[in-house]
Amino acid sequence: MYVPKNVVSNNDLTTVMDTSDEWLQERTGIKERHYATQFEDTTSTMGVEAAKIAMQRAGIAAGDIDFIIFATISPDYYFPGCGVLAQRQLGITEIGALDIRNQCSGFIYALSVADQFIKTGMYKTILLIAAETHSYGLDFSTRGRNVSVIFGDGAGAVILQPTEEDRGILSTHLHSDGSEAETLSMINPGFHAGKFPRGKKPAKPSQPYGGLFITKDLIEKEDIYPYMDGPAVFKKAIIKFPEVILEALLTNNFLLSDLNLLIPHQANLRISQMVQQKLKLRDDQVYNNIHKYGNTTAASIPIALCEAWEKGKVKDNDLICLAAFGSGFTWASALLKW
Ligand SMILES: CC(C)(COP(=O)(O)OP(=O)(O)OC[C@H]1O[C@@H](n2cnc3c(N)ncnc32)[C@H](O)[C@@H]1OP(=O)(O)O)[C@@H](O)C(=O)NCCC(=O)NCCS
Repeated sequence: MYVPKNVVSNNDLTTVMDTSDEWLQERTGIKERHYATQFEDTTSTMGVEAAKIAMQRAGIAAGDIDFIIFATISPDYYFPGCGVLAQRQLGITEIGALDIRNQCSGFIYALSVADQFIKTGMYKTILLIAAETHSYGLDFSTRGRNVSVIFGDGAGAVILQPTEEDRGILSTHLHSDGSEAETLSMINPGFHAGKFPRGKKPAKPSQPYGGLFITKDLIEKEDIYPYMDGPAVFKKAIIKFPEVILEALLTNNFLLSDLNLLIPHQANLRISQMVQQKLKLRDDQVYNNIHKYGNTTAASIPIALCEAWEKGKVKDNDLICLAAFGSGFTWASALLKW
C-alpha cells in the first residue's frame, strides 16, 4: 500500500466547510484521510509506489510481469488509462494493460479478471493496482460536504501467480444493478449531453457539432462534482454486503464461523458495523481502518489487506473474505485461502 504524505484531519476540513469532527466520527467513523499533493502525486504514481512494494515483497522484477490491471475511478487522464501510465513508469514494454472502472468494487472485479487469466494459463504473473486521487476533484464547499468528507486518496497493489498448493482465490462473485446508476455518480464531464435523468440539459454549444463533453455552463454552475444520495447508498449497502459475503461462503461450503477475517470495502464505519452485526461476526473477524484513510474506493480493500497482513492478522491458510459495495450499484466478494 501507499498513501500520500499529506494527512488531513476532520478539524482541518472545518476550515473550508461547515462540518465538525464530532459529526464526522459519529456518522462515518473517519478521523483523518490522506490527500495527494499537486505536481507530486497522481493515481498512477501512487499506484506505482504500491506496485514497487508488492513486487519487492513477492520477490519479482518488473520483467517478470506479463499483464497489468489497474482499477480506478479517478484516472490521471480521461484517456489513456492508468494501466499504460503505470507500465511506462515501471519500464515494462509491450505487455497488455487493462483498466477497470467499477468504483468501490473495482479491486474485486479486477481480482476476478486476474483470477480467470491465471486459471486459464494465459498469464503467469499479473500486477493488479488499485488507486484513487479523489481530493483533486471534490467540492470542498459546504454544498459538497456530504460527499467530500468521506473520500481519501491512496493506493494498493498485489501480485498474482498460479499455485499448485491448495490455497489462493477460491471464488469471486460479481454483481451490479444499473437501475440506480446516478444515486452515487459523477456524470460531468461526460458524453451524455444531458440525456439521462440527472443530466441537466446543457446550454446549446455555439458550434454545430460537439462541445458537449464539458461546457462553460457546467463549470459556471459548478455541476462538475460527484453526487451521492447517502441514505439510499447506506440502505442498499447493508443488504448487499451480507448477501454477497454469504454467497462466497456458501459456494465453498463454509460457515461464518470458519471465517478468519472479513475485509469489507471501507465505505463508512457504520456500514461495516451493521454488516458485522447482521452476520454476528466477532470484532476480531472484521478489519476496519477507515478512521485513518477515509473511503479510498478501489484502493480501500488492498490498503486494508496490506495493513492487516502487516499486523499479522492474515496468516497462512486463513480464510479471508473481501467484500465491496458501491456506485453502479456494483457489489462483489472474493473468498481467499491465504
Ligand atoms: C453520507 C452519510 C454519512 C450522511 O449521513 P446521514 O445520516 O445519512 O445524513 P444525511 O445525508 O441524511 O444528512 C443529515 C444531516 O447532516 C448534514 N450533513 C451532511 N454532511 C455533513 C457534514 N459533512 N458535516 C455536517 N453535517 C453534514 C446534512 O446537511 C443533513 O442536515 P439537515 O438534516 O439539516 O438537512 C451517510 O448517508 C452514509 O454514510 N451513507 C453511505 C455513503 C457511503 O458509504 N458511500 C460510499 C459508498 S461506496
